Amino acid sequence: MSNITSEEREKLLEYAVKYSTPLYVYNGDLIIQRYKELYEYIKWNKLRILYAVKANYNVGILKLLKSSGAFLDTVSPAEVHLALKLGFAKEDILYTANNITDQEMHEVKNLGVLFNLGSISRLKKYARAYPGTEVCLRFNPDVVAGAHKNVMTGGDITKFGILLSEVDAVKEIVKEYDLKVIGLHEHTGSGIGETEKVFTSMKNLLGIASRENFPGLQFIDFGGGFKIPYKPTTPRIDYASFGEKIGAIFTEFCERYRKELYMYFEPGKYIVSEAGILLVEVNTLKQNRERLIAGTNSGFNHLIRPILYGSYHQIENLSNPAGKPKVYDVAGNLCETGDYFAEQREIPEIREGDILAVKNSGAYGYSMGSLYNLRAMPAEVLVINGEDILTTKRLSNSELADRLIDSYLK
Ligand SMILES: Cc1ncc(COP(=O)(O)O)c(C=O)c1O
Repeated sequence: MSNITSEEREKLLEYAVKYSTPLYVYNGDLIIQRYKELYEYIKWNKLRILYAVKANYNVGILKLLKSSGAFLDTVSPAEVHLALKLGFAKEDILYTANNITDQEMHEVKNLGVLFNLGSISRLKKYARAYPGTEVCLRFNPDVVAGAHKNVMTGGDITKFGILLSEVDAVKEIVKEYDLKVIGLHEHTGSGIGETEKVFTSMKNLLGIASRENFPGLQFIDFGGGFKIPYKPTTPRIDYASFGEKIGAIFTEFCERYRKELYMYFEPGKYIVSEAGILLVEVNTLKQNRERLIAGTNSGFNHLIRPILYGSYHQIENLSNPAGKPKVYDVAGNLCETGDYFAEQREIPEIREGDILAVKNSGAYGYSMGSLYNLRAMPAEVLVINGEDILTTKRLSNSELADRLIDSYLK
């Protein structure tokens, strides 16, 4: 992860003044670079990279990805509506929701996108409602991996996917309702550092992807989870050799299957995380005995990853980069004890009024945000080719109050 250059620092400080803080700033050029480079790393002719919308559903980012020909992985009806309204073709969208209602199933089915079903229960309900249709099936790859237990989606303790051992039960339902299984899917976890585990997940899924089990396959989807370095000391994964290994595994599989299938991946974090910075302003310095606390005008309502996953976000003091480093707890403004971006972090001296850049905030930042304490979400700015575009405005406090009153059903 590179440090912010002095030129970038000046620009970010300019945006902080122009749009005020807290503010999300996204580097659109980096988003496109990350999206496209996966096609370079993973050498497979029939490759599709489906951006996981959940990571960041900013309209500007989605439009930008669309102009680069991106495909999408969606997890809620509203994400599907948003994608279609933005002009994505229904054929380019996969719907991977879990624990859905019948109403949700019918709503999304009417929109025409392909379902990726992850439970026998839903598969039966879908089959009864839509016999003879195409479907993708999500399996639990039986591998436990990911940056935190809350983002490990395979193995024994997960709500996701059908067990590989349930393949016979799946086949019976498929046969009874004449479903066309055109895709198989697995997603092992998020921020996977051990690439061997990815290969094992792939092989586990491919183990059931025989012609005998599923004769009509068109694609295999290996989910997301591409790790990016959050700490400056964390090495970047060599995705070029990773891509080669993936290509070899898939080549061998396709030979066995006797057909060249499409290979899908669904990265979210890899595409947008490093491109996003949350700018916050320090308004209160406090010495609480041993602890020096820098209180900011944002909090976990805007970036919940540190308290949800114990995740590390590098913080730079844009206003005083050459200041003498001191150790700080960087806190938010919520009335909540765990409201910290970082604890005991060495940062160049912070003064009240300084602007801090909380880095690697482009994924699962804004999209996991909330109105907790009834504080508005930050504005969002997308920078493309040096031009800054305000994509989302921050509601004023009065507008926020009006929204609540407007949605109140008397
Ligand atoms: C089904 C599915 N696909 C893709 C992703 C994207 O994961 P990541 O952002 O780690 O690449 C997730 C995230 O949890 C997911 O659940």
